Amino acid sequence: MQIIDVNKINEPNTKLKEKYTQGHSKAYIETYGCQMNVADSEVVVSILNKNGFAYTDELNEADLILVNTCSIRENAETRVFNRLVHFKHLKKKKQGLLVGVIGCMAERLKEKLLEEEKLVDLVVGPDAYRDLPKLVQQAGSGQQAINVLLSREETYAEISPVRLDKNGVSAFVSIMRGCDNMCAYCVVPFTRGRERSRDPQSILNEVQELIDKGYKEVTLLGQNVDKYNWNKGEVNFAQLLEMTAQLNPKLRVRFSTSYPQDMTDEVLYAIAKYDNICKYIHLPVQSGSTRILDLMKRGYTREWYMNRITAIKNIIPDCAISSDFIAGFCGETEEDHKDTLSLMEWVGFDYSYMFKYSERPNTYAARNLKDDVPEDVKSRRLDEIIQVQNRLSLESNKKDVGKTFEVLVEGVSKKSENRLFGRNSQNKVIVFDKKDYQIGDYVQVKVVDCTSATLMGEAV
Ligand code: SAH
Ligand code: SF4
Ligand code: F3S
Repeated sequence: MQIIDVNKINEPNTKLKEKYTQGHSKAYIETYGCQMNVADSEVVVSILNKNGFAYTDELNEADLILVNTCSIRENAETRVFNRLVHFKHLKKKKQGLLVGVIGCMAERLKEKLLEEEKLVDLVVGPDAYRDLPKLVQQAGSGQQAINVLLSREETYAEISPVRLDKNGVSAFVSIMRGCDNMCAYCVVPFTRGRERSRDPQSILNEVQELIDKGYKEVTLLGQNVDKYNWNKGEVNFAQLLEMTAQLNPKLRVRFSTSYPQDMTDEVLYAIAKYDNICKYIHLPVQSGSTRILDLMKRGYTREWYMNRITAIKNIIPDCAISSDFIAGFCGETEEDHKDTLSLMEWVGFDYSYMFKYSERPNTYAARNLKDDVPEDVKSRRLDEIIQVQNRLSLESNKKDVGKTFEVLVEGVSKKSENRLFGRNSQNKVIVFDKKDYQIGDYVQVKVVDCTSATLMGEAV
């Protein structure tokens, strides 16, 4: 298979070029995976826009379909494969329709997507989006097009993302890319490459632009935001948080994801110091067993994690805490699983994302450990984790009944046109009567009732 060096393309298909440069071509993008992919899709649309593509959110209007993909678990990839089969049928009906895979599956599967599966026309990895316009032209003239080079520098720093969300209230801002942690189970270091931080000035410029457009909330994104480090310590994450919060006291600042090994008290004091830095930390623990954490290569123990939780509770008493869990990792015994349940109880997580372990090819775990917990045991353990979390979430929400929170309104409730929803600083969703309130307003809402997932309130 031929890998096209895009820098050597000097005779682009003129017909296609005309089509693109005159803005006659429409690109549609579907995004899977984490918030980072959501942010990347906005960068991709910005790059395409500058190169003559209009964006459409109507699949049947598209001349180019891009799927921004995730490899984190096998079922994430299966979903995308099913979608690609569907798009392949569409290609038969619409001549000239191009389909491209971008993001983590592009990086993990590379030319396999073009060759073995023959499902797509182009494959572009997360650090190669600047080459997309050229690669699309290449694919359009009938050649396979691929660029999956990872970079040590690329942060798309100066590219102003085209916001694809509809609410105009809350936006993601990427502050770093890649991950150097190499947790034993995880594909991210392979699909996103080495960790690198984005120029703080470009981050602040992007946030200021959002403020000027009327946005009220930003979420600073990285796989491990605590490792943010610009110019060998010139700006660390705590400082970046403060600088962002200082831009405007009415701007809410969120961030994700924090890492137990690296989260410093300095970060916690920064959160406590500013009213507009949200009192919510997503601090994935994965397992409550030190033995399993060691096998996972997470670099911390159960006790270390508990120490970090104690620090959060001391420094930011009203902080909500959520976590991620993996059930049934290699070698996990019933004892280890019980350690996870007891840690959950000890912390009292407000919310969690919970998964069954899914072995990913070429990771440390796939190469060195045995995926030996039977499927039914994994499922049962996951169920038990979910049960405990549901109860903890309900207990946490019940404690909020009677309290009043400042809610940033994000939209109209799916269940009723007369109700609005938004979140409080703790990231909890609150639903309340619309009255004259608008999307983007800050509203004081008193909580009157709750489920394990939602708070119901009345504006006061
Ligand atoms: N950078 C973040 C996590 C990003 S991936 C962190 O380290 O906390 C999001 C979550 O997916 C992880 O926290 C983990 O719980 C889950 N996950 C990652 N790899 C997985 C795998 N192979 N099987 C099951 N869950 C996995
Ligand atoms: Fe994956 Fe670990 Fe990096 Fe998170 S910190 S992205 S789990 S390697
Ligand atoms: Fe998935 Fe890639 Fe994010 S694997 S979780 S889309 S970094």
